[in-house]
Amino acid sequence: MSDHAISTLLDEDRRFPPDPAFAAQANAKPEIYDRDPDEFWEAEGRERVSWFEPFTTLSEWELPYAKWYVGGTLNVAYNCVDRHVEAGLGDRVAYHWEGEPGDTRTVTYAALQRDVVRMANALKELGVRKGTPVAIYMGMIPELAVAMLACTRLGAPHTVVFGGFSADSLSGRMVDMGCEVLVTQDEAWRRGKPVPLKETADEAMADAPGVHSCLVVRRTGAEVPMTAGRDRWYHELEVSDDPTSCPCEPMDSEDLLFLMYTSGTTAKPKGIVHTTAGYLVGVAATHHYIFDLKPETDVYWCAADIGWITGHSYIVYGPLCNATTSVLYEGTPDFPDHARWWSIVERYGVTILYTAPTAIRAHMKWGPEYAAKHDLSSLRLLGSVGEPINPEAWIWYQQHIGGGRCPVVDTWWQTETGMILITPLPGVTTTKPGSATKPFPGVVAGVLNEQGERVEQGGGYLVLERPWPAITRGIFGDDGRFRATYWERFPGFYFAGDGARIDADGDFWLLGRVDDVMNVSGHRISTIEVESALVDHPKVAEAAVCGRSDATTGQAIVAYVTLKGSEEGSVEMLDVLRNHVAHKIGAIAKPANIVFTPELPKTRSGKIMRRLLRDVAEHRALGDTTTLADPAVVNEIADRAAGSPADDA
Ligand code: WT7
Repeated sequence: MSDHAISTLLDEDRRFPPDPAFAAQANAKPEIYDRDPDEFWEAEGRERVSWFEPFTTLSEWELPYAKWYVGGTLNVAYNCVDRHVEAGLGDRVAYHWEGEPGDTRTVTYAALQRDVVRMANALKELGVRKGTPVAIYMGMIPELAVAMLACTRLGAPHTVVFGGFSADSLSGRMVDMGCEVLVTQDEAWRRGKPVPLKETADEAMADAPGVHSCLVVRRTGAEVPMTAGRDRWYHELEVSDDPTSCPCEPMDSEDLLFLMYTSGTTAKPKGIVHTTAGYLVGVAATHHYIFDLKPETDVYWCAADIGWITGHSYIVYGPLCNATTSVLYEGTPDFPDHARWWSIVERYGVTILYTAPTAIRAHMKWGPEYAAKHDLSSLRLLGSVGEPINPEAWIWYQQHIGGGRCPVVDTWWQTETGMILITPLPGVTTTKPGSATKPFPGVVAGVLNEQGERVEQGGGYLVLERPWPAITRGIFGDDGRFRATYWERFPGFYFAGDGARIDADGDFWLLGRVDDVMNVSGHRISTIEVESALVDHPKVAEAAVCGRSDATTGQAIVAYVTLKGSEEGSVEMLDVLRNHVAHKIGAIAKPANIVFTPELPKTRSGKIMRRLLRDVAEHRALGDTTTLADPAVVNEIADRAAGSPADDA
């Protein structure tokens, strides 16, 4: 975040106390903050979830590893689907699905159960059993949620890889997890164009020899190459959809549910481990209170992609566990025009909308007239996630989308936390534009200074002081990295990697990452990941990457590149390198700007001075350069940056 953005946040003095009418009907009451964390999570564990065998111990914490609901057995798919059908809710809509071209499907809980059983039986035919790791590489179609639930029904852990990732990113994850089966689709629709998922999956499987079978769902109907003996069309498998043909596997509370890979401060993404019971209780409880969910009447829409943690927790597992009716939308907000989202809100009578600041700012840029064309009066609650929300976007969202009548909940959390941790509770909390306000009940957060001392009021590093049910159980296969990343900076505390400030009311203001992680459109990308992709190109000698603030995407990626030998930078080379990064990682990691420079600024010991490069990227007065081996380099870079070809992302 720029200094300007931070001071805007801190000068923000608008207050929005809860509306008494909303408060009267709210799921959360003020007393919720008085509850003892253990008592709270014990009660949520019993109320939110159905157990095959009840848990015997609430939690065990052997730092840094937590266990929750110890001794219990349960099944996530049973909790998300079967028990609702058994309770007579089979006719309730689970998903109003809308494809990007405009085709629609209504998936009731009864239909979802049959779909999940059919998919689970198909996976069984391909050899999937309890414990078999499965990769899922799909777009936003109902079968994506169905594939996840089918895995959990069988007790097979999954990793969903976002459909915008490259073949290399997919194969790296599949190899790391040891995946044996991949579920994908022929193609996905994005902004009116087909995205060749199966083709990319083929490229990835070539580098992931452990994947022996691939299940392909038909979406666009395109002809795609099928490898005999490995690839099977889902619609061609003749399997039963009778729930008794495939009972829900009883799983231990601490059995692996899924891995979600996320960027850290090295080139290799981390496989964040989430287990069964604590994760499910955590996402269901937060979904219930924070979104004030009334399953009989609400139509809830989280406009994220299921390929990220937001979609796992708040499109699939939390909402389904709570028997929610959700909207699922396949495409982009600007297809065929900028009013698409608002037509969806009107068509389905959406009552709760959860999205990211980057999307809100894109709508701001397009103008409020698109929302104004549609009846958005069904909306009663708005949520934000993914990055700090600037007060201007918060107010725009509240006014132009919420009509000034909806509470806005700015929810802070991470892939590692599994569930929302810092957030207002609608009907209880007085909100402030730009502040995520208070830790959720049962969550204890704090801010520490450089020395690890507690900051009662003021800025520092955000930490969590005790485990919560959905906390990650580690980085898959890398205990050392888990400890070093989260637990060693401040012994005894979970270090989130975010800066935060506590104000006089005890409210938290999140200030962005304090490590080498960028946040582009709410997506986490590490500087080093992009640097490795750049130096992978044969013409690149060296690269340094940093984020700069961007009015729409929050941050944008700036790369400083030194080419080998006598190679000169050019507009063509800029395109080549941007596409190379897209090919290595995915389009989300494309640098917005590339500055070609004969040298990078280094200290005498050879360390690249990123702080200076950030200053250049933000057009700030250059900081201290006295430790620099050759101070002239920085001025040269600043001059080049000033004249660098513009962003065309
Ligand atoms: C990072 C986590 C959690 C789902 C989406 C991103 C930033 C997230 C907020 C917020 C300020 C936020 C943090 C965090 N972040 N929500 N409400 N206010 N910052 O998940 O990819 O794991 O990224 O996103 O920097 O550390 P993720």
